[in-house]
Amino acid sequence: MITKQKGTKDLYGEEAKKWQYVNKVIDEIMEKYNYSFIRVPVFESNELFHRGVGETTDIVTKETYDFVDRGGRNITLRPEGTAGVVRSYIENKMYGDDNKPVKLYYNMPMYRYERPQAGRLREFTQFGMEILGSDDPLSDAEIISLAVNIYKVLGLKGIKVNINSLGDNESRINYKEALINHFKPHYEDLCEDCKERLEKNPLRILDCKIDCNKDYMLTAPITIDYLNKESKSRFEKVQEYLSVIGIDFEVDPKVVRGLDYYNHTVFEVEAKIEGFGSQNVIGGGGRYNGMVQELGGPSTPAIGFAAGLDRLMIALDKENIKIPINNSIDLFLLYVSEEEKKCAAYLTNILRMNGFIVETDYLNRSLKSQFKQADRLNSKFTIVLNSNDLANNEIKIKNNKTKEEEFISIDALIYFLDENLIEDSCDCNSECSCENSCDCHSDKECHCGNNCSCDDNCNCNDDNDCHCGNNCSCGK
Ligand code: HAM
Repeated sequence: MITKQKGTKDLYGEEAKKWQYVNKVIDEIMEKYNYSFIRVPVFESNELFHRGVGETTDIVTKETYDFVDRGGRNITLRPEGTAGVVRSYIENKMYGDDNKPVKLYYNMPMYRYERPQAGRLREFTQFGMEILGSDDPLSDAEIISLAVNIYKVLGLKGIKVNINSLGDNESRINYKEALINHFKPHYEDLCEDCKERLEKNPLRILDCKIDCNKDYMLTAPITIDYLNKESKSRFEKVQEYLSVIGIDFEVDPKVVRGLDYYNHTVFEVEAKIEGFGSQNVIGGGGRYNGMVQELGGPSTPAIGFAAGLDRLMIALDKENIKIPINNSIDLFLLYVSEEEKKCAAYLTNILRMNGFIVETDYLNRSLKSQFKQADRLNSKFTIVLNSNDLANNEIKIKNNKTKEEEFISIDALIYFLDENLIEDSCDCNSECSCENSCDCHSDKECHCGNNCSCDDNCNCNDDNDCHCGNNCSCGK
């Protein structure tokens, strides 16, 4: 048997439905924040990541999937989204767009040759967003608050936002010098990688997983002590805006991020959830004002964020957040004869095109087995197609919840389902989103019902009882 590659996973069944739901929520939020969707290729030239992410980062030196293609080109599978998005921004001259800043988001698989463990995969999915063309600290605050709000809307509670500033070029040069002075006396004790880093890029010593607990690591200089006046006041402005928006955060001078392109604001979102494990940084980002120019475009300030979807799903699971997934269908059509089967084929097509979730039998099962299949699919209604009824332009439809059966004309089927499926679902039409018109994002958020705080007149007994979204089970 051929098995999947180490550090990859198959997504299917109920878990796939949860992912689809989370992706839908992300899409909706991004639309509200006015970000446009972008997709860039899975493979790019190797040089893009060397120049974009940084020659001395762990990602580029140890983790990229590199290969030479049949045309002799040096190719890399993208380890992150920002460099590819910036390449596309330059190549497609998006900087010429009158509509500034350019706000983009993506949701795509990334590839890093890391040691797999819970929450750390070799193929993983990131959703991320980038604002290109604004240096306003308000855009820093927008990116951080957008990241936090996605987690909040999904119902995640145990998150902590840590922010820091690396400052502008001048501040970074001063800081680099301080790091060199600090680590030089410990040169002999540094691991081989860090010895090289000390010469090439001392900031990366702070990412070291081998030396990280040594005393001189813990007493290393911190960035904010080396910020010049402008960088300091810029960082204060970001914090001021975050406070105005109501985003809780902590300044953590240890956040330096493992990618080379950052300056000024950097931040990480940590999952503070029991049993989450060591890979608890569920997202991170920062400002990268130099990258567009570095990759051959005009000088363009930019900031962005990316979150690991795999880690987010673990966090939702650990917090027991119930994700509303649809585990039922509207109608199952049963048949016996070939003539009835053709009618089933015709009706399933028409009904699906009219927005209903409809199934029929594809295995030539007995009628008894077809009923079992309808039950397995939690079909709300069933119809046993019968040639005699069909000759009279009639069908007998059964409501599987009330067990009531009635004859209706075939022509009235769409109308019947429309009426009865609406009645069957939650009744509120303000904030909550049953199949009708509301659009809450989770059961927790859905406030229908008596014991819950729906503004409307939905009849479910409490928040838990109400499964709005798909199979709402309010008393109606
Ligand atoms: P990053 O910190 O390398 O940043 O990755 C962002 C997030 O992706 C991490 O916080 C983590 O949740 C997830 N992640 C990273 N590696 C793995 C892995 N091996 N398995 C599972 N999840 C993983 C970036 O990639 C930047 N491009 C973020 C950014 C956007 N900065 C500016 N704009």
